[in-house]
Amino acid sequence: MSTIEFQHIKKKYEGNDTYSVSDFNLTINDGEFIVFVGPSGCGKSTTLRMVAGLEDISKGQLIIDDVVMNDVHPKDRGIAMVFQNYALFPFLNVYDNIGFGLKIRHMDKGERDRRIKEAAELLGLSPYLDKKPGELSGGQSQRVALGRAIVNQAGIFLMDEPLSNLDAKLRGAMREELVRLHNQVGATTIYVTHDQIEAMTMADRIVILRDGHIQQIGTPEDVYQNPANLFVASFIGTPPMNLLPGSVRDGKLYVTDDVMVSDAPGLEGYNGQAVMVGFRPEAAKLTGEGIEFVVEMVELLGAEYNIHGTLGGAHVIVRADAGTCRYRAGDHLKLDLKAKDLFFFDPDTGLRLEVNRGV
Ligand SMILES: Nc1ncnc2c1ncn2[C@@H]1O[C@H](COP(=O)(O)OP(=O)(O)OP(=O)(O)O)[C@@H](O)[C@H]1O
Ligand SMILES: [Mg+2]
Repeated sequence: MSTIEFQHIKKKYEGNDTYSVSDFNLTINDGEFIVFVGPSGCGKSTTLRMVAGLEDISKGQLIIDDVVMNDVHPKDRGIAMVFQNYALFPFLNVYDNIGFGLKIRHMDKGERDRRIKEAAELLGLSPYLDKKPGELSGGQSQRVALGRAIVNQAGIFLMDEPLSNLDAKLRGAMREELVRLHNQVGATTIYVTHDQIEAMTMADRIVILRDGHIQQIGTPEDVYQNPANLFVASFIGTPPMNLLPGSVRDGKLYVTDDVMVSDAPGLEGYNGQAVMVGFRPEAAKLTGEGIEFVVEMVELLGAEYNIHGTLGGAHVIVRADAGTCRYRAGDHLKLDLKAKDLFFFDPDTGLRLEVNRGV
């Protein structure tokens, strides 16, 4: 059983004027895989390091399994951690690298051996136990670092960008492996990344951070389908959501001044006001009817195309299946946008407007 509770946690580093983490509130359930995601400097590592006990907590309480942990020594928190730079000992073989932590804690040799071999088996490292780190690939080295964490049999796993040193293909494979490992080991996990694809593919729930503030907490589906604000809407999704300045006039919705997109269902209360209008690249269909869209560039991804173009002068990206795409730069097409696929945001606060989208 390992639950983690953040209660109004704040962090200000000595010498800084501003908080690196502001009023962080979250309850993580036993066995959950939580991903902290956000741009560089948003406070992901700081928050993780406060859980580990490697940074002091300035304000608020950190509670693990109903016990306040603020002043508990890192080694007594029941936590295992994997970092981006998984510094292995170059002079020790894989077996001893995995077992190093257990050895310095004077764990009985038989138990140590059992745990090392079990972790190696789980990670596919059994054939490499006699090798030195210099003889391993990046992925294998990362697995040794994971092994070191697994043998502690901690209830909580903290990982800070553990895959960022690997190339794209290996990262994809290790993503799958980590999820499989999590399903087998079942430890409550916090995983930090700035890569929203990692977040979307691995998380039970995602915590999106910006400038030390939580923007949204939710399942991958949730944050994709119901982004709380403009930041989340543009951060989650590749390519990102198209966002256009718009306005509501006489019950109609316009974008970029004069392109009428649709009636304005649910936006009656916003008559005469500016709104930000968003739609996902896959929501727009090129069916031959709708609003004018001029193709600028067609980008082949394999099974799909990203069609870059303009709508009322604003840049947008539309996604089309490769089988159906015959478009070229300069083509004038019609973009079919359904009212139910539109998102609306307050242009001043960035907050999502809760309107009935006619779904
Ligand atoms: N030791 C420190 N002393 C002072 N300020 C720090 C320290 N560590 C981090 N900060 C500041 O705290 C903020 C959050 O940093 P943090 O390392 O948590 O960001 P991050 O989200 O992990 O970013 P990245 O994706 O680049 O790793 C940043 O503004 C950073 O400059
Ligand atoms: Mg970091």
